[in-house]
Amino acid sequence: MLKQKDIHTVLIAGSGIMGASFAQIFAKHNYDVILYDIMESALEKAKSLIDVNQRAEIAQGDLTAEESSALTGRITMTTSKDSFSKADFVLEAIAEKMAIKHSFWSEVSEKVGEDVILATNTSGLSISEIAQAVKHPERFGGMHWVNPPHLIPLVEVIAGEKSSAEALDIIYDIAVDLGQKPVRVYKDPTGFILNRLQYAVVREACHCVEMGYASMEDVDNVMKYGLGMRYACIGPFETIDFGGIDIFNHVGSYMFDALCNDSGVPKLLKDAFEAGKFGVKNNNGFYDYSDGKGEEALAKRDAAFIKLSKCLYGGEK
Ligand SMILES: NC(=O)c1ccc[n+]([C@@H]2O[C@H](COP(=O)([O-])OP(=O)(O)OC[C@H]3O[C@@H](n4cnc5c(N)ncnc54)[C@H](O)[C@@H]3O)[C@@H](O)[C@H]2O)c1
Repeated sequence: MLKQKDIHTVLIAGSGIMGASFAQIFAKHNYDVILYDIMESALEKAKSLIDVNQRAEIAQGDLTAEESSALTGRITMTTSKDSFSKADFVLEAIAEKMAIKHSFWSEVSEKVGEDVILATNTSGLSISEIAQAVKHPERFGGMHWVNPPHLIPLVEVIAGEKSSAEALDIIYDIAVDLGQKPVRVYKDPTGFILNRLQYAVVREACHCVEMGYASMEDVDNVMKYGLGMRYACIGPFETIDFGGIDIFNHVGSYMFDALCNDSGVPKLLKDAFEAGKFGVKNNNGFYDYSDGKGEEALAKRDAAFIKLSKCLYGGEK
């Protein structure tokens, strides 16, 4: 198998929200990138997204204009499958549908060299099930990033049933080389770790609003000004150690029974979806994003992530 240091050309498949960011991250770290999509229009969109991001980084002083143009020069965009054979590493960020992933992986794993490492950025589909379409599945694993990937350091490296330890080590090493903070996830659990934690919070947040315990704004404030700030610095187990295992054990004796343990999508979320509210993407979510408020919210979010990253990691993720 190719080692991380042997990898020079990376095929990013899918040039959407995640793929466009991946192209920049790899190019920034001196990899040659082939950004592949089935839609010419998606590549056009990715190009303008990359331009916007690059301008923001230059404006923040994180990149010079020369570095930015060298970076974009390392990205080739294509709809041609001829590009597959040039890849030393493949990271897939295409549509989140098992049939689409299967069809892509059966084709690409035939066309790339047999020593090429393959990774999927699926949010939650089973790595073992995607791997069923992969020729030589031992070189395949999950590489799950968090949106926006150029600002959030975490990468979950997920083992499928047939992933080899060597392939997972290489995916891990690539993440380290890109300045990310990888973690290892075993046994391919649904939602890996991040989404298991996230959806536990989403269920309880919806429950608190549905029960009238607090407004949506104040539930968001509890997270932003309380738990979220703490969790940017220390994790749940460290929190328990600081608070005292005896205290958490005692509070847990009445707290766990009080929590929502419903199954299924919470009513608040389902009702919003059924009312056509998709969030910032259609300017209509739990909050109002009409008349440019969506772009403002996005810019404010990214500026806050950059500040936090600089504060906690000195600009290095
Ligand atoms: N958006 C997120 O917050 C996020 C976070 C983590 C993981 N993911 C995962 O990353 C993947 C991509 O998500 P996204 O949000 O970037 O999606 P997106 O819809 O923005 O982009 C997907 C792109 O894939 C292209 N595509 C579809 N089928 C293809 C194929 N067969 N070959 C090549 N390109 C194809 C589409 O044209 C589109 O440009 C999904 O698996 C998603 O679950 C997304």
